[in-house]
Amino acid sequence: MRISSELAKAINDQISYESSATQAYVAIGSWCERIGYGGSSTFFFEQAAEENMHVLKFVHYLNNAGAEAIIPATEKPQGNFDSLEATFQAGLKNEQTVTKLINNLVGIAEKEKDRATYLFLQWFVNEQIEEETLFETILQKFELIGRDKLAMYQIDQSLTSIRTETMSKGDSQQPAN
Ligand code: FEO
Repeated sequence: MRISSELAKAINDQISYESSATQAYVAIGSWCERIGYGGSSTFFFEQAAEENMHVLKFVHYLNNAGAEAIIPATEKPQGNFDSLEATFQAGLKNEQTVTKLINNLVGIAEKEKDRATYLFLQWFVNEQIEEETLFETILQKFELIGRDKLAMYQIDQSLTSIRTETMSKGDSQQPAN
């Protein structure tokens, strides 16, 4: 096995959290779809697909390192929300938790001088900056545009362009290959 059992366990815990995040975003997307926030449901279903991609990255990493990726059961996620804003607040809180967990993983890799895992985790460090920025940017819109029905409609319709803009800013801040 190319990684320590402590790190393998921590990465399996991460797989578990990212799997829960996947389901949480599917549940939020479903609520948005039910209420009629079409832009937001698309946004959260895309977000769920991203989380699932994160799960797979960790699964491949563990299996290729000779450890065993454990695919977890997940708890039923929250299925109802008080407002559209509350869904993005839940998203930001989730991303902040993921950032802490990733930083914890980086700390273990550093402590163990596991350079390969440390480098593997850098992608997630950058991804988390982008994800937190994305949710913060969307939440700012509620402050700027408002919370009445027209504002909700405008925010719901602008999510794809906010995502594209945030991603391209994030890419431009990455070091060139
Ligand atoms: Fe996989 Fe958004 O953290």
